Amino acid sequence: MTDIAFILNGEEIRVDAPPTRTLLDWLRETRGLTGTKEGCNEGDCGACTVLVTDDNGVRALNACILLMPQLHGKAVRTVEGISGPDGALHPVQAAMLEHHGSQCGFCTPGFVASLAAGHLQGRTDHDVVLAGNLCRCTGYAPIIRAAQAAEAAEAPDWMDEPLDGFDPGPAPFAPETADDLAAWYLANPDATLIAGATDVGLWITKQLRDLPKVAFLNRCADLKGIEIGTDTLRVGAAVTMTEMLAVLEVYHPSYATMVRRYGSEQVRNAATVGGNIANGSPIGDNPPALIALGATLHLRKGDARREMPLEAFFLDYGKQDRERGEFVEAVTLPLRAPSLRCYKLSKRFDQDISAVCGCFNLTIEDGKVTAARIAFGGMAGIPKRAASVEAALLGQAWSEATVAAALPAFEQDFTPLSDMRASAAYRLEAAKGMLRRYYAEMSGQPADLMEVRA
Ligand SMILES: Cc1cc2nc3c(=O)[nH]c(=O)nc-3n(C[C@H](O)[C@H](O)[C@H](O)COP(=O)(O)OP(=O)(O)OC[C@H]3O[C@@H](n4cnc5c(N)ncnc54)[C@H](O)[C@@H]3O)c2cc1C
Ligand code: FES
Ligand code: FES
Repeated sequence: MTDIAFILNGEEIRVDAPPTRTLLDWLRETRGLTGTKEGCNEGDCGACTVLVTDDNGVRALNACILLMPQLHGKAVRTVEGISGPDGALHPVQAAMLEHHGSQCGFCTPGFVASLAAGHLQGRTDHDVVLAGNLCRCTGYAPIIRAAQAAEAAEAPDWMDEPLDGFDPGPAPFAPETADDLAAWYLANPDATLIAGATDVGLWITKQLRDLPKVAFLNRCADLKGIEIGTDTLRVGAAVTMTEMLAVLEVYHPSYATMVRRYGSEQVRNAATVGGNIANGSPIGDNPPALIALGATLHLRKGDARREMPLEAFFLDYGKQDRERGEFVEAVTLPLRAPSLRCYKLSKRFDQDISAVCGCFNLTIEDGKVTAARIAFGGMAGIPKRAASVEAALLGQAWSEATVAAALPAFEQDFTPLSDMRASAAYRLEAAKGMLRRYYAEMSGQPADLMEVRA
């Protein structure tokens, strides 16, 4: 049997859906569950938020870019299942009413789903929990007040997911181990690998692409591990950005601060580290940080494995050093790098792709720069090291004068594009500003970040 089996609002479901069917379309068109709304259909607005529970607990996900096979063996709860079977309100729903957290209400089901997920997780960082949900009429203050008001309430028992003893059977389109994936992909090199689907989902919903042959990576347990060694961290390709964030908070706080602004809660709960590297995007947030850290990429094709410095993987815009049938297995990075600083510049604080992302990792010994790794996203067709800037700093005294003298080297390293995120001139100025900010920060001067808080 190749059915996709999961639990929907407490009820066991088996469905023979095509692998590229989104949960949102299935809910609305097949089940008549129209409480889950379609806003942007690209992961940006949160109107389609649902709760998904598996062995790792509950998380909020955007149903518009969540594909049916990703649900196999899990429990899904939509806004219809957040109130009790007799219509009793969940504490976050009651609080939304009491605090006037809804006006037109189009966004409200998504807010309620995010709030209910945050409530189950015992979260009090409501700004973070709700950063992926857009509301244009109520404004956020009443919604945040509702979240605060519901904090202490018990989760109703109907929110328990009956996953114990649920036997979904074999998973369609999803190898269980990296070995299985490697053998299958070698035999099917024309297939599309799908990890979090935060890119691939948009190929389906926006580009209406047909993906005739796919494999999902989310069941490969050996691609999902984070190994903490004496000096290194080895991160499996299918580790989500939420899982990555938890580890970075311990070992690389500045990188973590940047990842906190990567997409939204829902996006980080789906997107993977491997997907963010493999897609070769020049504006992905992990590659500059990982390159500045001197990370090593691990690739696998069948039983053959090879590794390379991450920067060598990105050859040209849209072109990576990856063979047919080869996939990203993991990335290894140093466990500690106290001088690493990551700066993400985007038009919005949350839920926005970087216009420029600059990551700096310098070693200063006896007042001199003895090692320099500086990498940028958004400055070229690939994530790229600032080789001339590094050369201008190396061996020099670590001073404001050295930094000023190194600034023109940015123009040798980068000829950025102008696009809707930023002009070329702005990007160059911003990159220079980031080096100056790094100097200020590393020498204990204030390096202010403007941030608006609710
Ligand atoms: C609303 C929204 C906000 C976003 N915000 C950000 C942001 O702030 N910063 C940022 O960097 N990105 C952002 N993104 C982009 C996206 O989240 C990332 O690029 C993401 O990391 C892709 O990972 P994924 O697991 O979802 O990949 P998928 O969509 O599953 O796959 C992406 C590509 O990688 C391939 N692939 C995946 N895993 C592997 C593997 N192990 N080996 C080989 N190939 C593989 C797939 O075949 C596909 O070509 C955002 C996306 C959305 C929708
Ligand atoms: S519809 Fe906007 S995030 Fe899904
Ligand atoms: S209540 Fe109207 S968009 Fe949120």
